[in-house]
Amino acid sequence: MSDLIERAADILAKAKYTVALTGAGISVESGIPPFRGKGGLWEKIDPMKYAHIDAFLEDPETVWDVLIKNMKMVLDKARPNPAHTSLVDLERLGLLKTVITQNVDGLHQVAGNQDVIEFHGNFAWQRCQTCDQVIATADVDLTHIPPHCSCGGILRPDCIFFGEMIPPEALHRSQQVSAACDVMLVIGTSAMVQPAATMPFIAKDNGAVVVEINPEPTPLTNHISNLPLLGDAGTVLPRLVAAVEQRRDAS
Ligand code: APR
Repeated sequence: MSDLIERAADILAKAKYTVALTGAGISVESGIPPFRGKGGLWEKIDPMKYAHIDAFLEDPETVWDVLIKNMKMVLDKARPNPAHTSLVDLERLGLLKTVITQNVDGLHQVAGNQDVIEFHGNFAWQRCQTCDQVIATADVDLTHIPPHCSCGGILRPDCIFFGEMIPPEALHRSQQVSAACDVMLVIGTSAMVQPAATMPFIAKDNGAVVVEINPEPTPLTNHISNLPLLGDAGTVLPRLVAAVEQRRDAS
């Protein structure tokens, strides 16, 4: 592992344009469970029953009760962990340009990253299904489920449910930066959900080196990742940043 981190640091220190693609795994050490794998949310509840737009439209009360209320409790407590702050360090070193995140927890922005593409939206906001007004989740009264907008419409997280389109601007920019980068860090994603999972393929097709950080192998590990760093993001990323800083200091 040390050898792989050193090799990744060599490449990263010389890179001109690094992009990170992050998934639920980067926030596990902030206390937010992932969706798949050990302790994953989709082991406990069926996403097609509770996280599909059709389920929400049919029975918003149940989806709020089973999924959204619980997500709010977990996300309210979460703070950035050393993996998030390492990405801020890489940005301050002038290496990391953009974070594409599938996460809706907003932790990259709380940590301090400046250019974050929210591929699946942000839970900090609720949007009215009827009038499209956006309200801070913190201001939503949860005594009656589902909560309503002042227009009478039902509020829903400003996130993508299964069966919904990725915001076109987020998709377009993600494709652009994936094609333009010379290094892509793929951190804490099972790479099972499209179209986010195509970003490492776009990067690789355009000549980028793909560095993957995940304690478990993924469909990318043996085919797309040039350097799979098998470990927790909160441990591996600070080590990678320290190795990059050593090279910067020495040059
Ligand atoms: N550090 C890095 N990776 C980790 C850690 C950790 N400490 N802990 C777990 N992981 C890895 C797991 O091995 C797994 O590969 O994080 C990954 C989490 O995978 P998913 O739960 O599938 O998360 P993600 O890839 O972000 O899911 C994509 O699926 O249901 C949807 O909308 C949801 O945005 C989400 C999308």
